[in-house]
Amino acid sequence: MEAIILAGGFGTRLRPLTYTRAKSLLPILNEPMINYIVRSLPKEVNKVILAVNYRKKQIEEFFETHDCGKEIIVNDEPTPLGTGGAVKFAENHLTGKFFVLNSDIIASLNLEEMISFHEKKNSASTISLWPVENVSEFGVADVKDDGNIVGFVEKPKQEDAPSNLINAGAYLLEPEILDYIEKGRLISMEKEIFPRIIRDTNRFFGFRFSGYWMDVGRMSSYIDVHKFLMKRKNLQNYIGKNCKIKGKLLDSCLGENVEIRKNTELNSTVVYNNSIIEDNVTIANSVIGENCFIETGSKIMNSVVGDKECIQPNSVLNNHLRWTQSIPNGYPKKQIGNVIGE
Ligand code: GTP
Repeated sequence: MEAIILAGGFGTRLRPLTYTRAKSLLPILNEPMINYIVRSLPKEVNKVILAVNYRKKQIEEFFETHDCGKEIIVNDEPTPLGTGGAVKFAENHLTGKFFVLNSDIIASLNLEEMISFHEKKNSASTISLWPVENVSEFGVADVKDDGNIVGFVEKPKQEDAPSNLINAGAYLLEPEILDYIEKGRLISMEKEIFPRIIRDTNRFFGFRFSGYWMDVGRMSSYIDVHKFLMKRKNLQNYIGKNCKIKGKLLDSCLGENVEIRKNTELNSTVVYNNSIIEDNVTIANSVIGENCFIETGSKIMNSVVGDKECIQPNSVLNNHLRWTQSIPNGYPKKQIGNVIGE
């Protein structure tokens, strides 16, 4: 059985970190986020199709050097084809029912249980469902008691919402679904294909699960997922190899070879490999990229500093994305479209 992992997005909401690397390789507790998805695959999946485009070489290299025990196919789209186009583009590699998984979701979803549910329901298309409190930010599933989904309502008011269940970014599909997707164009599975399947079949089901679910596509949730996973491990901080720490850390994660000099305080902050944070610096709710140098006396709040940036002494950054280098060719100015949520 195959699993397609969608990893071809630009990750514009996580720029400037994604100017230099694929979003799916951004570390969470020093491990690329795509690895969390690969580790969650059940034994039934023997082949992983990586649907890639932007920064595909980095993703390819990661899997060349990290054996995950499954066959890996790097399926490079000529241009980004969207979530539906990427699935159609993988058609030649599929042999039966298959998973489609977003690479930016960290969740306790049990894919083995999802297969059993799918088979029991004789479903053509099963999507994972997660309950949320604030439905007004999401596409909400209209789901019957037996799990049959009859539609989605986009960003409903609380009182008009058919349920509190949203698309959680993991699908299990029968090959017949491929006939609904046109070849070679940018196409959204969620916006264009799912409504058609619902209309034409009554075999579209939702699989609810409990535990945890985090869409780590934006900066606040990227920091939150670190804090959440540290808490689960009962850790106050997560520190990579060869770090030198003279200052204070709280709810923070350091990559390898990071230096935190004296009287410096980090709170809810992620620092990537080889960065140096000088004396008397305060950083909160921020991400500092690789090989950065943050000079003495600086204050950084709710900000992101891209790789290889240098922050001058006594700088104040608040709600700031720091990037002084060139932006990669073809990188979009804004989000192209998204799958879950808005
Ligand atoms: P934003 O620009 O911040 O919205 O990020 P994104 O480009 O990753 O888009 P989004 O978060 O909506 O994507 C959800 C998942 O689909 C991620 O795992 C993306 O890598 C993936 N994805 C989005 N667009 C494409 C595409 O055109 N091709 C492929 N192969 N994957 C895609």
